[in-house]
Amino acid sequence: MGRNKVTVIGAGNVGATTAQRIAEAGLADVVLVDIVEGLPQGKGLDLAEAAPVVRHDARVTGTNDYAATAGSDVIVVTSGLARQPGMSRDDLMAKNAGIVKAVVEASAPLSPNAVLIVVTNPLDAMCHVAMRASGFPRERVLGMAGVLDSARFRTFIAEELGVSVVDTSAFVLGGHGDTMVPLPRYSTVAGIPITDLLPADRIKALVDRTANGGAEIVALLKTGSAYYAPAASTFEMVDAILRDRRRVLPCATLLKGEYGVDGLFVGVPVVLGSGGMQRVIEITLTADERAAFEKSAAAVQELVAKLPA
Ligand code: APR
Repeated sequence: MGRNKVTVIGAGNVGATTAQRIAEAGLADVVLVDIVEGLPQGKGLDLAEAAPVVRHDARVTGTNDYAATAGSDVIVVTSGLARQPGMSRDDLMAKNAGIVKAVVEASAPLSPNAVLIVVTNPLDAMCHVAMRASGFPRERVLGMAGVLDSARFRTFIAEELGVSVVDTSAFVLGGHGDTMVPLPRYSTVAGIPITDLLPADRIKALVDRTANGGAEIVALLKTGSAYYAPAASTFEMVDAILRDRRRVLPCATLLKGEYGVDGLFVGVPVVLGSGGMQRVIEITLTADERAAFEKSAAAVQELVAKLPA
């Protein structure tokens, strides 16, 4: 039995950093694909040449040709345009929908059993595009957003309280964007809800910073968007799937009646392991949380309605 194989489409910042993490953990062989000639080959070779020093033996290759991706266990889609300053995730939609459709149509038939992880924004809408283009069941089409959003929330909680990020846990629901729904009563430090540790106005400030976490990085970088935390978050999902860890992680998944939503990709906690999404974990929401969740789902619905047929 060979090592697992992961295809990473888009050899830009998020894609290359994700490839690096997967390879350096020895988790899988990685095939990097990009439309730009030489880019995936160059980054693939550079990553392969780091292997003797890092002391891993995963193979990393780069290509413009999808033939090399055949038989992948996981396909990570990061191809697209990154957000520029002043550009909302929504502005990107038409361009990225075309790119995601093309790369999924090229890759999915060659890896018919793969789990697709979508990273390209606007995330929830791109999940719909990927699902349609692949014909895969919902278990095998997931979006990476919730892990990143909760990582940001955890960072801010830890900073506010002067405690280790390791002891924090955060619960985030909804679409990836300004309408995301962090759940403070399920966000904890060593199991203690932050609602017992922080006043409401401080929690609100942390929640707002989390919802604007992507824009905060874009404003600082000026020429691109976040990639270290997005790549780390994508890696966590790939690791959960390939090692059947059954991690409980917030992911964008196609809801079929759960949380009162049918036929929309929205971020909710799922059990992630072999075969992808094994189960949606449903919790009872308070009236306020439900209203925020419905608003978030409506924002996703609005974007999906604008997708080209
Ligand atoms: N096929 C393959 N690769 C493509 C295609 C295509 N049709 N179109 C674009 N790409 C590649 C680009 O050539 C580029 O190398 O996708 C890569 C994107 O990389 P970056 O511009 O560095 O963007 P990055 O920061 O990695 O973000 C990628 O992830 O977090 C999201 O919002 C972000 O949607 C963006 C995506």
